[in-house]
Amino acid sequence: MPKVVLGIESSCDDTSAGVVMDGKVLANVTRAQLEHREYGGVVPELASRAHMRLITRVTEAALQEAGLGFAQVDAIACTQGPGLPGALMVGVAYAKGLALALQKPLIGVHHMEAHIHALWASAPDHSLPLPFICLLVSGGHTYLVKVEGPLHFRILGQTLDDAAGEAFDKTAKMLGLGYPGGPILDKWAEKGRTGIFSFSRARVPGYNFSFSGLKTSVLYFLEEQTRRNPQFIQENLADLCAAVREAIVDMLLDKTECALEQEGISNLALAGGVAANALLRRRAAALAERFGGQLFVPPLSLCTDNGGMIAYSGYLRMQAGFFSSLDISPEPSLAWGLLGPS
Ligand code: KG4
Ligand code: ZN
Repeated sequence: MPKVVLGIESSCDDTSAGVVMDGKVLANVTRAQLEHREYGGVVPELASRAHMRLITRVTEAALQEAGLGFAQVDAIACTQGPGLPGALMVGVAYAKGLALALQKPLIGVHHMEAHIHALWASAPDHSLPLPFICLLVSGGHTYLVKVEGPLHFRILGQTLDDAAGEAFDKTAKMLGLGYPGGPILDKWAEKGRTGIFSFSRARVPGYNFSFSGLKTSVLYFLEEQTRRNPQFIQENLADLCAAVREAIVDMLLDKTECALEQEGISNLALAGGVAANALLRRRAAALAERFGGQLFVPPLSLCTDNGGMIAYSGYLRMQAGFFSSLDISPEPSLAWGLLGPS
């Protein structure tokens, strides 16, 4: 009998549901919440309300896309954390309700581990050479992880302040590019020249990252230049975007290169929404090649927050015999490895 897992994602501002059958992602339906745009960032209360409004529709759409009904679902997986408390609450409560009504097991999933599991979901034959270094870069988190198995992770480093996606979004906002500005800044940067402007790179010990200094130096630089020439940003937008992007990618890949070298690993993976960045992908691919390895990146639909990766993560947990009780609570600061062996 095929095993079907329904996955529910509601940790931030994407309401999403996915369906996995025997390890294959059959459906992945996401509704991004546009109501946050006018505020230039995610408003937690609006996110919770939007999840409540969208979650049933999104789940039904995912099942329809998979050509299945609730009766064929064998387990319900949901993001238990980390994430926004109210947003997580909606997904966890909905998943619990479904598990109870359908009399099927519930599987709490760690959101960041699921971002890494998206790599297996999209790999040929669902197999990846182990170990590999994963640079996990999203709007809320930045981690450098040594991956020794689907349920075995060792965190090498993380950001001490802003996440990489946040650094892109905040600098994009200063450049007047709207929200979330990361992808827009990336597009402008593709048309820009490097070496025209340069922003300093933070020096942080170990494998950790820091992006707040970059944010401040971009802010001061733009303030000074626009005082002299109010059109400065408009006249230099592409070159400014190229300089910001290069600084962020340099900082990310410097530490990644150290990790590959120190750990004696040749294979590299990118995960999370920032894995869509064109320069990061090109340079990460070149880096892996230099070490004699390969670069693995999930398709975009499995990189940004999505229910497909939650369903796949739930499927891996189910295979390993990990289920949750019906009295689990959302865990906004859920630590890695708590939901399984580590
Ligand atoms: O993984 P994700 O969808 O959500 C979180 O878990 O945070 O990541 C969203 C982040 C946002 O900060 C967005 O600006 C950034 O990923 N992002 C990008 C690009 N595409 C998405 N940043 C830089 N370049 C891109 N092409
Ligand atoms: Zn995420």
